[in-house]
Amino acid sequence: MGMVDIIKKKKNGEALTKEEINYFVKEYTEGNIPDYQAAALLMAIYFQKMNQEETAFLTEAMMHSGKVVDLSAIDGIKVDKHSTGGVGDKTTIALGAMVAACGVPVAKMSGRGLGHTGGTIDKLESFPGFSVELSIDDFIHNVNDIKIAVVGQTQDLAPADKTLYALRDVTSTVDNLSLIASSVMSKKLAAGADAILLDVKTGNGAFMKEIDDSFALAKEMVAIGSKMKRDTIAVITDMEQPLGFAVGNSLEVIEAIETLKGNGPADFTELCITLGSYMLLLAKKVSTVQQGRAEMEKVISNRKALEVLKTFIERQGGDGNLVDNPELLPKAKNVYILKSNKDGYIHGIHAETVGLSALLLGAGRETKASIIDLSVGIVFRKKAGDEIMSGEPLAEIHYNDEVKFQQALEKLKSAYTIETDKPIVRPLVYGIVT
Ligand code: URA
Repeated sequence: MGMVDIIKKKKNGEALTKEEINYFVKEYTEGNIPDYQAAALLMAIYFQKMNQEETAFLTEAMMHSGKVVDLSAIDGIKVDKHSTGGVGDKTTIALGAMVAACGVPVAKMSGRGLGHTGGTIDKLESFPGFSVELSIDDFIHNVNDIKIAVVGQTQDLAPADKTLYALRDVTSTVDNLSLIASSVMSKKLAAGADAILLDVKTGNGAFMKEIDDSFALAKEMVAIGSKMKRDTIAVITDMEQPLGFAVGNSLEVIEAIETLKGNGPADFTELCITLGSYMLLLAKKVSTVQQGRAEMEKVISNRKALEVLKTFIERQGGDGNLVDNPELLPKAKNVYILKSNKDGYIHGIHAETVGLSALLLGAGRETKASIIDLSVGIVFRKKAGDEIMSGEPLAEIHYNDEVKFQQALEKLKSAYTIETDKPIVRPLVYGIVT
């Protein structure tokens, strides 16, 4: 078997065998296949596509390219949640605490942000001292003890995905259904999940901009899950405008804390309750989604989830007092109020443009080496569908650097569509794939 034959086969639209896919993944990860051949195969896959069986083979090969985490020492069904990424997506922070407060183990491997989307670890590092550098033994101990722990993705978790993803990034082959599905699912499976809940975003701020593509991706990932004998549910949710009001690391943490106190934005609170109810269902903690919703609402109203968040932050070295006093989290020096220059209704706040605006402020990374400013970001006062009068505040811009602020301001202004007629507001949840 040789790479030229494998590339040729895929170029001609034929399905690859398990052996061929295993050969490619293993040899490429070990450095025995040059980038130009791997890139040619990726492009052939991009145009000719893979069927569901090939996608599952690719997932399995990437999952086994490094260590598969054994979480069997953790009691209960471990349900992992994955979001395909978005702007203002602080879900793991609030949702993790809510699910843990219901007694379901949350053993989470998270990532850092890159480009216009943020990462959970960066957000959590708004708590001074907080660290995701836990040994696997401490990780397991914490989950058994307090039901929640978050670690960074280890280098040896699905290393084939890491190298292939980097190559996809520079060969314009990221946005292929099979390649995204296998990339996401290989990491979830390698991280030791018993069951998987996928939050598949749709809209301009998401990987998949069109609803049909988001459903297709969800179906592909659910099919992989069931082939790998993991209960998997996907919820398709909106990412046409940012989630909640806050975008930016410590600003999002404050919003997550407020949500656990029952004062969160309606869309973000609803998303956490919906996703959490499906996680409880997957964990077999409840037998209906309605029961799951009731449990989620309960841990907000009795403040149990808030207590769990505080304990979790402290357990990983952070200052838990900031959960009680979120005003002490990193704060930008200046706040500018962006006001509307006309009367009307907000038809849209373009999520990707907002993400890029936050990036210009310094909230995100342009490259892996960029240093981020945890305190800066944007807080919306109004969202899509809201009426606005000329001179009324649209959003707050929290900033530290005047030059960055000017660039971000221009960008943010371009994110708005304000018209005189009342818009049709997009739903938060488009559907469920099981
Ligand atoms: N996220 C991933 O982990 N992989 C992809 O291919 C796309 C998004």
